[in-house]
Amino acid sequence: MIRKMKGMYDVLPDEVSTWQHIEKVLHSVSKLYHFKEIRTPIVESSDLFHRSVGESSDIVSKETYDFSDRGKRDNTLRPEGTAGVVRSYIENKLYADANQVQKLYYLGPMFRYERPQKGRYRQFIQFGAESFGSPLPEMDAELIDYAVTILKALKLKDVTVRINSIGDDESRDNYREALLEHLHDDIDELCQDCQVRYKTNPLRILDCKVDQDHELLQTAPKPIDYLNETSKAHFDQVLAFLDSMNLSYKVDSNLVRGLDYYTHTVFELDANVPTLGAQNTICAGGRYNHLVSSLDGPDKPGVGFAFGLERLLFALEHSNYKPKKDMIHLYIMILGENQKADGVKLLHRCRQGGLTADIDYLDRSMRAKWKEADRYNARFVAIYGDQEKEKNVIAVKDQISGEQVEIPTNELYQHVMSELMKPSKDCGCDDCSCE
Ligand code: HAM
Repeated sequence: MIRKMKGMYDVLPDEVSTWQHIEKVLHSVSKLYHFKEIRTPIVESSDLFHRSVGESSDIVSKETYDFSDRGKRDNTLRPEGTAGVVRSYIENKLYADANQVQKLYYLGPMFRYERPQKGRYRQFIQFGAESFGSPLPEMDAELIDYAVTILKALKLKDVTVRINSIGDDESRDNYREALLEHLHDDIDELCQDCQVRYKTNPLRILDCKVDQDHELLQTAPKPIDYLNETSKAHFDQVLAFLDSMNLSYKVDSNLVRGLDYYTHTVFELDANVPTLGAQNTICAGGRYNHLVSSLDGPDKPGVGFAFGLERLLFALEHSNYKPKKDMIHLYIMILGENQKADGVKLLHRCRQGGLTADIDYLDRSMRAKWKEADRYNARFVAIYGDQEKEKNVIAVKDQISGEQVEIPTNELYQHVMSELMKPSKDCGCDDCSCE
């Protein structure tokens, strides 16, 4: 038997409704914030990620799915969404109107060759949003507010927003020097990865999980103390906008993020699911003022975030989210060979009118048909046998109230439709007026 690959998973039919619920919320909140969807390819040229996410990042140095195609081009399955969206923004000149801000969102699979564990996969789904063109701190605040509103709409409580600033280039350079100096004499005491990071990407040492309690890190200088005036003013204003929206957050002076492109604000949203451990970060993002220009685009600032949907799903399940039961509106029980043509015609008509309807396709006993109607969670069961055909009627049973009526056969669709429209019946479905 061929099995799925390590770190991949199937979403089975019974699980799909929870995914669709999350997706529906993501699209509708995005509309409120006036972000528009963009769809970019899953495969991009490897160069794009080397030049954006960064050679020294774990993602590019250890985790990309790279392959060369038949034309001997180097390709990479996208490990994140920002780089592709920036590429498309530049290539399609979405910046053409100089006075326009572009607010875009995306939803789709990403690929990272990581050690799989709960909440960490090799193929995972990100929902991300990117805003281009505005350097203003209110845009950083809007992105954080947008992310928090998604969680509110999903009724996910117990989430912490952590935020920090790594400042502009000058602040970051000054900080890097101070950090290198602080670590210089004792760098051998840190883990192998940190010793490499010391040379390639020293800021990453700050969020090392192995050494986080080491005294050398506990006493290390903080990026926030090296912000120049402009960077500090930007960060203070972001926090002030968050305050004005009554949005709670924690300033986390160790937050630096693992991708190279950030400037100024960085943030992460953590759920509180005990079994997720380090995978509790359900959303992460920040400002990237030079990414567009570094990929040969115009000098346009950007800011964005991405959610990991699997982690969001775990957090939802942990918060006792109950997925809506899958249901069908109507199960037509056709009893006998002679009734089949009429039955199939009824089924067709009901579906054309918008009812989710099904029949037995295995010619099973009446008992088995009832069982199937229950398994499908059918709201109505219509019974059509010899006697009904003779009288030109059909029996319809409401599976919630238990009431059964006989109606003219050609009124089946109308009857079911008008019963579904009646309010306050808890049929558990997603789309009729019972909610
Ligand atoms: P990231 O922190 O690499 O940032 O990923 C964002 C989120 O994707 C994480 O917080 C996590 O929820 C989810 N995630 C990452 N890796 C995995 C994995 N292996 N399995 C499951 N979930 C995962 C970015 O990707 C940036 N592009 C975010 C961004 C957008 N910054 C600005 N704009």
